[in-house]
Amino acid sequence: MEKFIVIGGKRLKGSVRASGAKNAILPILAASLLTKGVSVIHEVPALLDVQVMKEVLKYLGARIKCDGSIVTVDGSKVSSLEISEDLMRKMRASNLVMGPLLGRFGKVKAAYPGGCAIGSRPMDLHLKGFAAMGASITEKHGYIIAETDSLTGTELHLDFPSVGATENLMMAATQAKGQTIIRNAAKEPELVDLQNFLNSLGARVRGAGTDLIKIEGPTELGSADHTVIPDRVEAGTYMIAAAVTGGDVIIQNVIPEHVEAVIAKLREAGARVEVAEDNIRVTGPSRLKSVDLKTLPYPGFPTDMQAQMMVLMTVAQGTGVVSEAVFENRYKHVDELRRMGADIKIEGRVAIVKGIPQLSGTFVEVTDLRAGAALVLAGLIAEDATVIENVWHIDRGYEHLERKLSLLGARIMRVNGI
Ligand code: EPZ
Repeated sequence: MEKFIVIGGKRLKGSVRASGAKNAILPILAASLLTKGVSVIHEVPALLDVQVMKEVLKYLGARIKCDGSIVTVDGSKVSSLEISEDLMRKMRASNLVMGPLLGRFGKVKAAYPGGCAIGSRPMDLHLKGFAAMGASITEKHGYIIAETDSLTGTELHLDFPSVGATENLMMAATQAKGQTIIRNAAKEPELVDLQNFLNSLGARVRGAGTDLIKIEGPTELGSADHTVIPDRVEAGTYMIAAAVTGGDVIIQNVIPEHVEAVIAKLREAGARVEVAEDNIRVTGPSRLKSVDLKTLPYPGFPTDMQAQMMVLMTVAQGTGVVSEAVFENRYKHVDELRRMGADIKIEGRVAIVKGIPQLSGTFVEVTDLRAGAALVLAGLIAEDATVIENVWHIDRGYEHLERKLSLLGARIMRVNGI
């Protein structure tokens, strides 16, 4: 298995470009199943999760052409309506094809997505919404079958502003008869990008980015040419890397309003953050101040940046309190940070992080994508070398991480199992 070896102590300097957003391209690729037309998508990042989603689309009969960061999907030959357990276990976001298949064909059979390192992650909100639109839902032998003669638009209210449920229901609703309203919808920027893609296919979706989304259906969908928004979590990760190494880095290809909460937190911790039209410059002080952190649905502080921010807190001045309000079990990185000397106490969903002068390098293991990113940040500031195992988790969501960090002066290399 591939590992990273990171030698700490270098201040990062220079500029780095964020790639297309993983959490925008995944629903957009799923949405390309809705149409018999051709979807041309630009700025598609080279990520393991994108590879898996392409596999899922091919498995379902879509034809895919890749040319660098341009992916073309021809949905005309989509035939299979079943997502295998193997594919669903590989990536929870495979469940995003359910809405499109149910909307276009009136049936979908999917294995239950595996819970993963960050919690059980049920699909009750997705299924409740499909049922409210007229689908019958049966669950047996670990599979979910949703089917209907035709979906009917209705008023939906999500108990929780689930990103995936909002996306799945939005996509299905483009083929439901009449108007569908989604209340308490997720407001993440990736929903706006999905709305823009759907509307460029010919759908009629309004309100994404707010908690009330209206979809008129059914609509005849055609072809589209779309460029994915930049990855705000990747950008935020480099912002924290700059701050925590006492560096001076410009992050290019970022939409500042998408990282407002991270900008505010970094400024609160004493970093200097200069915001321009499509880039952000972060300069870290010699020592940061600790902050308190509560993760919330957008526009609150993103749960996908919690582990990275916790690394900053492990070496900041003072004690900070983290409360993870989105997932019930997103502290898998804590044990590994403790192995590096971090002083962290967990009480349920709350972590109390007491700043120490420096982390120390050692062997650590990645359990999930963002925990992995956090361990790389920890390695950048730890004394001596840190060996990070199972880096494939990181490759799921960060394009060429070690290459981008090396260009900023980091001492990081990828090695095969030693
Ligand atoms: C999306 O996951 C993102 N993934 C996650 O990013 C992100 O952490 C999450 O949204 C929250 O922002 C993609 O977009 C591919 P949710 P999703 O449904 O849609 C509960 C990363 O690192 N819930 O908003 O799966 C669920 O258990 C990944 O890039 C239900 O209870 O997240 C969780 O506690 C990790 N029932 C909370 O809602 C449901 O039917 C948020 O989940 C659905 C969700």
